[in-house]
Amino acid sequence: MSRLVVKSGAAAGFEEWRACFAEVAPGLDVRFWDEMGDPGEVDFALVWDPEPGRLAAMPGLRCIFGAGAGVDLIVRDPDFPRHVPLVRMIPAGAAQRMGEYICWAALHVLRQGRRMALAQARGAWDYFDCASAGETRVGVMGLGVMGSRAAVMLQGLGFAVHGWSRSAKCLPGVKDYVGEGALDDFLAASDLLVCLLPDTPDTRAILARPLFEKLPRGAMLINAGRGAQQNLDDVLAALEEGLLGGAVLDVFEPEPLAEGHPAWAAERLTITPHVASLPPRRERAEWVAACIAGIEAGRWPEKIYNPDLGY
Ligand code: GLV
Repeated sequence: MSRLVVKSGAAAGFEEWRACFAEVAPGLDVRFWDEMGDPGEVDFALVWDPEPGRLAAMPGLRCIFGAGAGVDLIVRDPDFPRHVPLVRMIPAGAAQRMGEYICWAALHVLRQGRRMALAQARGAWDYFDCASAGETRVGVMGLGVMGSRAAVMLQGLGFAVHGWSRSAKCLPGVKDYVGEGALDDFLAASDLLVCLLPDTPDTRAILARPLFEKLPRGAMLINAGRGAQQNLDDVLAALEEGLLGGAVLDVFEPEPLAEGHPAWAAERLTITPHVASLPPRRERAEWVAACIAGIEAGRWPEKIYNPDLGY
């Protein structure tokens, strides 16, 4: 019987993982990370933020599954076993969920949902005009599985959408700006900037003042990539000065965002707790079970982490 060990979220959540796997893969020996038994007996690991060195101590590991699409908290381990395939978690529903979140956030920031919520809390009838999607150009940074779906769904709402990517992508009606040299032109054309980049050394702290200065003044920002990609102090200052007109952030570094952090009170910032696209455990367990069945039959899943690209 193959053994799968799980380290994703608090220990208390493990019973739910166990129950999901009992339904979708009753033949799998599923154990919590801290009760895995002999590490030499482990075949598969499903992890979000494993402690450094632990994966390397499992000599029979055949495949690692990231518990999310981003694997940054796994590969930061200096002893990460690079010879073991690491599969990014992208079940069918993940891109759809991300697209829904980005569409919600885009309309929210465009219609100034934060301002309306604050006015409602004061009991104030705060009437104002706002722009519509048809007059708003959205720039999506990162046109992978998530970014591509979000781009298409944003188009469906009437936004004019263009993208910035490392290698050329071909999405109908979405002009693609490719590579570092095209970044400034991409930014100059983005009234609303959406970041869905993977966390790599190249993308870390990219969302900072020098980049905001290249956007049209008052542009809006959505980050559902990783917290390490934004300089939060710069975001707050840019909102305060009107360099940015509004922002929706789903990711922070570290998480959770500290109690009492000034970002909580920022008037033009909406905060969501890293919920943009994490499918329920049941959906993720089904997907891992299907991948393991495929691997046992000699078929490897797509979306294997490439250490050279960093995602
Ligand atoms: C969530 O952030 C993920 O990486 O799937």
